[in-house]
Amino acid sequence: MKFVKLFEPLQIKDIEIKNKIVMAAMHLSYSPDGFLNDKLLNFYEERAKGGVGLIILGGCQVEYRGAGYGFVAIDDDKFIPGFKTFAEMVHSYGAKCIAQFYHAGAYAFSFDKNNPAVSASAVRSNFTKIVPKELTVDGIKEVLEHHAEAAERVRDSGFDGIELPGSAGYLMNQFLSPITNKRTDKYGGSLENRLRYPLELIKLIKDRVGKDIVVGSRVSGDDLVPGSITYKEVAVIARKYAEAGLDYINVTGGWHESRIPQIPMMVPQGNYAYLAENIKNVVDIPVFASNRINDPYVAEQILRDEKADAICMARPFLSDPYLPNKIKENRLWDIRRCIACNQGCFDYLFAAKSIECMRNYETSREGTIDLNKKTENPMKVLIIGSGPGGLEAARVATILGHDATVLEKKDYMGGQANLSYIPPGRHQIRDIIDYYSAQIEHLNIDLKLETEATSDLINNYNPDAVIFATGVNWIIPDIPGVKEGLGKNIFLAEQVLNGDIPIGKNVVVVGGSGTGMETAIWAAEQGALDSKVARFIRLYDLMPRDEVDLKWLKGNRNVTIIEVLPRIGTNVGRSTRGFLMGYLNKLGINVITSANIEKFDGNTIQYEVGSDTKVLENVDTFILATGVTPNKALHDEIKSSNPKFKIYKIGDCKKPRTMLEAIHEGFKTAYKLDK
Ligand SMILES: Cc1cc2nc3c(=O)[nH]c(=O)nc-3n(C[C@H](O)[C@H](O)[C@H](O)COP(=O)(O)O)c2cc1C
Repeated sequence: MKFVKLFEPLQIKDIEIKNKIVMAAMHLSYSPDGFLNDKLLNFYEERAKGGVGLIILGGCQVEYRGAGYGFVAIDDDKFIPGFKTFAEMVHSYGAKCIAQFYHAGAYAFSFDKNNPAVSASAVRSNFTKIVPKELTVDGIKEVLEHHAEAAERVRDSGFDGIELPGSAGYLMNQFLSPITNKRTDKYGGSLENRLRYPLELIKLIKDRVGKDIVVGSRVSGDDLVPGSITYKEVAVIARKYAEAGLDYINVTGGWHESRIPQIPMMVPQGNYAYLAENIKNVVDIPVFASNRINDPYVAEQILRDEKADAICMARPFLSDPYLPNKIKENRLWDIRRCIACNQGCFDYLFAAKSIECMRNYETSREGTIDLNKKTENPMKVLIIGSGPGGLEAARVATILGHDATVLEKKDYMGGQANLSYIPPGRHQIRDIIDYYSAQIEHLNIDLKLETEATSDLINNYNPDAVIFATGVNWIIPDIPGVKEGLGKNIFLAEQVLNGDIPIGKNVVVVGGSGTGMETAIWAAEQGALDSKVARFIRLYDLMPRDEVDLKWLKGNRNVTIIEVLPRIGTNVGRSTRGFLMGYLNKLGINVITSANIEKFDGNTIQYEVGSDTKVLENVDTFILATGVTPNKALHDEIKSSNPKFKIYKIGDCKKPRTMLEAIHEGFKTAYKLDK
């Protein structure tokens, strides 16, 4: 496929953008005092260099009550110089920039008791759990004025536009929605009244700066919250916004509090483009599609199908700043795709940390790392294990001019990532293996498969440094009956996900970590109708539609998870755990917690919950997801021999954690080899 549409210019009012690739607003939490500092500038400079057409900066604080810690601010003239430098930098690369305003209303935390969060009504927020203060009519005027003054500052800084915050459940949404707007004055009640605040905001900003710069808005394409605004009403609202003078609409998914997944890996690529199309069908201004579009083919197709006029990507720019140029230059193999793991972005944001990226150690460290500076002390480096951490170490070491060799005992590369991508909704993890496979080839790295490392082999190789990336060993719990059943009807999750073992109808997954949950979902979907088969059956009406739906959505296994802790998924990031729980629920997976397993006996498992002894019978297959331990025996053996070469442990063989630590430690270790 040729990417013809993606690289056509995008016209918004009188500004021409060089392509149809937009970098969405991301609150990165890089700015402790609101200033647009060097860290932010360096971060965005890489993206501007990387060929993006339009950068949306922000969200930017327009008043203290609407934002929170770490936001870029534009609520004072003192922030103008930083914005000016930013605009000049972006323009110097031929890109354009828009500042997104941020007023979260009741979604902002009330850090200051004297100045609490405000909203349309004093309705407790399902997101922050706070009860905001209801804005008076004068209070509304004040908030509008904050936006208008900020808009003038943005214009005076040389930006190309402003994006108003009408998405995610923020203040504009809180006025629009009947579930958060309970007012009885002219700002509440009918849709016309609930539209008053957003329309006043649009008109005011247009009035103050509209002749000089573009004014757009991000909107929720559907609130995805029961009782709130649906995509049908959004079409009406969007038309009103366009009539009020908006220059573009950037369509995202629902509110933060929505139970519908919008950002995790389980959301299919381009899933929410239908919401952009819904708006594009009723307005004449440019419409952007957003959320989970990281693939150039998907992006190009959305444009070809006229579902949107531009493609807005956020996390894909965390994982690869040079995405547009790589697409343009047809270097697709070189793209480090965002896989929506959320480990370094949303999970860090929820943990009040500044943003990083699992796939890209350099993100957030721009300006402090230089891979173009070759080593003056080339080393012979042996890397044991070809999981993502080991491969990242090999990639970085080679780029820096070291001589890296990777030893892998299996006949394929990728380590645990090969298992991680098997469960439903995790397929994109495969991208990591594909990426490293291409890098290995491109950098001509010596990867020796089916080569088990031993201390003799390592010593004979005479390396300067050895990096152990040997991963984990799976734990087999010491519970009566396990040994007897192992290999008969008790298997490790690893063996089952590998496809080595057929599973029966009644399945018990032992252990409710992320791996246990995903393995249970995988098991519960076994036997489901393939999508193409379901489509065929529907097309020819071979079965009643509700029956097809059922057989397509769910497999034909009965699955139970049994876990010793009171909760499952304790090791899963906050951005994903709730959605996994919902997924288990939809598939009818039975979850038993606080269960101490006493014994396995043939097809039964006996366990204790509190003082009750319980038994599950007729279990065909037990799958053990009972944890892992570091596989560090070889490292320890080499270490105890006092080797002449440097040795390092990275990733899970140091301590089992996530892929983020593995990849980042791979990078860091290789980067510092000669230091
Ligand atoms: C760390 C982070 C911060 C974000 N902050 C904002 C924000 O301030 N305003 C906004 O409209 N969207 C924000 N988003 C949402 C993104 O713009 C985008 O809609 C979302 O990540 C889904 O798109 P993607 O799959 O391309 O990442 C943020 C996303 C991330 C990862």
